[in-house]
Amino acid sequence: MDKKITVAIDGFSSTGKSTLANQLANHLGFIYVDTGAMYRAVTYFAMQNGYINADSFDKQTLINSLPNIKLQFKFNADLGFAEMYLNDVNVEIEIRTIEVSSFVSKVAEVSEVRTKLVEQQKEMGKDKGIVMDGRDIGTVVFPDADLKIFMTASATTRAQRRYDELVAKVDTVTFEEVLANVEERDYIDTHREDSPLVMAEDAIEIDNSHLNREEQFKLVLELVNEITKTI
Ligand code: DC
Repeated sequence: MDKKITVAIDGFSSTGKSTLANQLANHLGFIYVDTGAMYRAVTYFAMQNGYINADSFDKQTLINSLPNIKLQFKFNADLGFAEMYLNDVNVEIEIRTIEVSSFVSKVAEVSEVRTKLVEQQKEMGKDKGIVMDGRDIGTVVFPDADLKIFMTASATTRAQRRYDELVAKVDTVTFEEVLANVEERDYIDTHREDSPLVMAEDAIEIDNSHLNREEQFKLVLELVNEITKTI
């Protein structure tokens, strides 16, 4: 695609945002950024250093340590997407566990964490030609994005998808645990004070409970084509 645009994809957890965003970026020859991976990497850092566990969260020490956190995406041509590096170490597998999922919303509530990550995300998108997914991309990171998509699906549908993914990676987890985690994250993501998950006024909502990957991709590609005609 010659015309470089900015595509913001927001929505609830496990709605398939990353799959769609990556598919779209590869098709258009754009950069893809999974901002959830960045919040997960900061959470993993906090876990490794003992700042967060099931009983406590030492927010202030995490805030003080933010300058020591270096996040980078490095494209892996074999996998077809950019993997997350935390302080020069590939943490792509470690950040996807249910344990990280159970703490990440608490870390993502911290304004200082958000400020640092949003600044880095804005920088990555300054030349356009980017598809970024997350919770606040169309509202905070790129309020002027050319196309904003907001993805939804029922909590049970999403938990089933996430469960299938985790089981395939041999994570010992039950469906009930995954559903509880999805519902808890929905609640925290939509109720936090700083940048809660809300649909931007000019976003297009896609409920993909009954759409397969191809149908969804076709729909979004049509939207991209319509927009590029007007700019
Ligand atoms: O997309 P994900 O499930 O990997 O995101 C992990 C968590 O990070 C999610 O529960 C909310 C948070 N997040 C956020 O607050 N803002 C973003 N832009 C992306 C993710």
